[in-house]
Amino acid sequence: MKRIYTSNDVEIYKNWLKKNLSEEKYIHSIGTMEQALELAKKFNVDYDENKIKIAALLHDCAKCFTVDKLKEHLEKNEDICVDFDLANYKTYHAPVGCCVAKKEFNIDDQEILDAIKYHTVGRVGMSDFEKIVFLSDKIEPKTRNADFRKMILEELDKENGLNRACLLCFKYTIKSLLDRNLPICKESINAYNYILSLVTADKN
Ligand SMILES: [Fe+2]
Ligand SMILES: [Fe+2]
Repeated sequence: MKRIYTSNDVEIYKNWLKKNLSEEKYIHSIGTMEQALELAKKFNVDYDENKIKIAALLHDCAKCFTVDKLKEHLEKNEDICVDFDLANYKTYHAPVGCCVAKKEFNIDDQEILDAIKYHTVGRVGMSDFEKIVFLSDKIEPKTRNADFRKMILEELDKENGLNRACLLCFKYTIKSLLDRNLPICKESINAYNYILSLVTADKN
């Protein structure tokens, strides 16, 4: 039987995060949850409020793990992580977070699992639900840069705002990786090309 997600689940996960994340990451997770809810309302995404809250809340649930522990999880959970490009270790917590959500929290909803798994690199064909979690992680007001947030909010207000805002996020992330001589996951480049096609499609 399909699981129903309740506000009590949200409280249970909040408590888990409070115990397991640094204070800053806990505050960031709450901020992401609140931001995601706001964006879901703004874009009228057909959503279950508790589902979007849980996806955003849990997106960084594996952020507290050491790199060794993350690698251990990746090896143990090849079924979930096999298609994930691991070019940059900073993205490991995303597929591992998906494993934790699935195996420790018994989350069976694919939308929640995918939103957690792809919140760092995005992917081709990402749903609006995934885009909202992806963006909320980058712009929540509690810990993220205010100027960047303002710029993304301006994009969100334009026509095709969700895609335009994602495109700007990809541009900034990829540019910053290039500037710092860091590897770029193939999935991010593919996601950038995909979102670019969604933004420019209106103009062609
Ligand atoms: Fe993250
Ligand atoms: Fe995050």
